Amino acid sequence: MLTGAGISAESGVPTFREPGGLWDSAPVDKVATAEGFAADPPGVWQWYHERRREMSAARPNAGHTALAELEQRITAGGGEFTLITQNVDGLHVAAGSQSVIRVHGSLADVRCTRCEFRRHVGMGQIDDVPTCPQCGVPLRPDVVWFGEALPAEAWQAAAGACGRCDVFMAVGTSALVHPAAGLIDLAIDAGAKTVEINVAPTPASHMVDIPLRGPAGEILPQIVQ
Ligand code: OAD
Repeated sequence: MLTGAGISAESGVPTFREPGGLWDSAPVDKVATAEGFAADPPGVWQWYHERRREMSAARPNAGHTALAELEQRITAGGGEFTLITQNVDGLHVAAGSQSVIRVHGSLADVRCTRCEFRRHVGMGQIDDVPTCPQCGVPLRPDVVWFGEALPAEAWQAAAGACGRCDVFMAVGTSALVHPAAGLIDLAIDAGAKTVEINVAPTPASHMVDIPLRGPAGEILPQIVQ
């Protein structure tokens, strides 16, 4: 299972590439690159504080809850279920999903731009520009920015699961951002039955066996039923 911003849309969390989405109004090279952060930590943090406020107000929707239930049922029956998300909002865990692989990090975590310091800070208020207690430089959101590698352990776990799965679903993702979008190809190459759930067509729509058109919060509960 690969999820993207669309699964959280019904919780009020904005997506990135739809009309009016986050990348329409924010300069990606400023707020989502290491260079942009180095040039203006307060400005970039201001944008992420706004994202964190949106996310702290959001609650899991029927789509998140359905995936938690699906995991519970499949694992209770002795099966393997892997939830890989590109989302940094924490809503899968809030919905009760037990095992979530976050390939793009988490906005509830910060890390140092110089040393190995990392901390879970949650979605509550933090300093305007938090600084590292070890070396004093600005801490950054622990999310993956453009031009950066995905966390190695998370990526290996995600790719491994896709390479041995029987059924693969891509939910609420534009399937445009690599390497995450490449997980769909891995599942196809592994011979999995593939499903896409999305309100609009994507580049993956013609590749999957079953494209399902509609909101994740409506379709996923029906699948679980
Ligand atoms: P996008 O904003 O690119 O795509 C969101 C997708 O969700 C679109 O294909 C929508 O059609 C679909 N969608 C919207 N509402 C939906 C709903 N209720 N049910 C089902 N589908 C719905 O978001 P991502 O694919 O997650 O990376 O973007 C991937 C990455 O690009 C993000 O993780 C982020 C961004 O740059 C980083 O910040 C590192």
